[in-house]
Amino acid sequence: MRYWPVNQSGKSIVLIGMMGAGKSCVGRCLQRRTKLALVDTDEIVASKFGISIPEIFSKYGEANFREAETEVLRELTISKQAIIVTGGGIVLREENLGSLKRLGIVVWLDGNEGTLFQRASRGANRPLLKGDDPRKAFSQMLQARLPLYAKMANIRIDTSVLTDEEVAVALLSKVRRLGRNWGARSSAFAKPTADKPIPATR
Ligand code: S3P
Repeated sequence: MRYWPVNQSGKSIVLIGMMGAGKSCVGRCLQRRTKLALVDTDEIVASKFGISIPEIFSKYGEANFREAETEVLRELTISKQAIIVTGGGIVLREENLGSLKRLGIVVWLDGNEGTLFQRASRGANRPLLKGDDPRKAFSQMLQARLPLYAKMANIRIDTSVLTDEEVAVALLSKVRRLGRNWGARSSAFAKPTADKPIPATR
């Protein structure tokens, strides 16, 4: 059994990436493995409005959603190292880029377009894929966002052929390596040890 030690002094892990990249699921895997708090900007926005994301889009429009998303990110103060999951379009606003960097190590969950689209179209909770040609809309959004994700990310992981657990393991290993270079000495960045053991899920 492997263990991930936790120490609250390190940087947070901020997940960015297109719809379907698995940010929420990987966020939950990371939370289980590290026992850090999990913060989801979409959940905070939804709770501020008191309705779901699709309802926010249909009642108030995308611009108001983006405004709220930016405000949530700007006001997010994380006192302890955490896992922060963001919505796929968070990189669209210039102002958000500074906020993301301020929050921690930015990890871009990427994947091939077909796979991302297939995953993103499961379920009915993606208002931006409700139009006549969701495949085309997805492709256009992705092309516009790729340079923004690339600009923002400290780490990129191709999730196309990995399970969420495999992504979480790869991510923690890359974050640890990066953390060492930054001089960070914290949980997610430390080697697994039996100190203060927290059972991993695999
Ligand atoms: C969006 C992605 C969604 C959510 C909203 C807008 C986007 O989050 O924030 O529907 O613009 O890509 P996920 O990336 O978790 O699907």
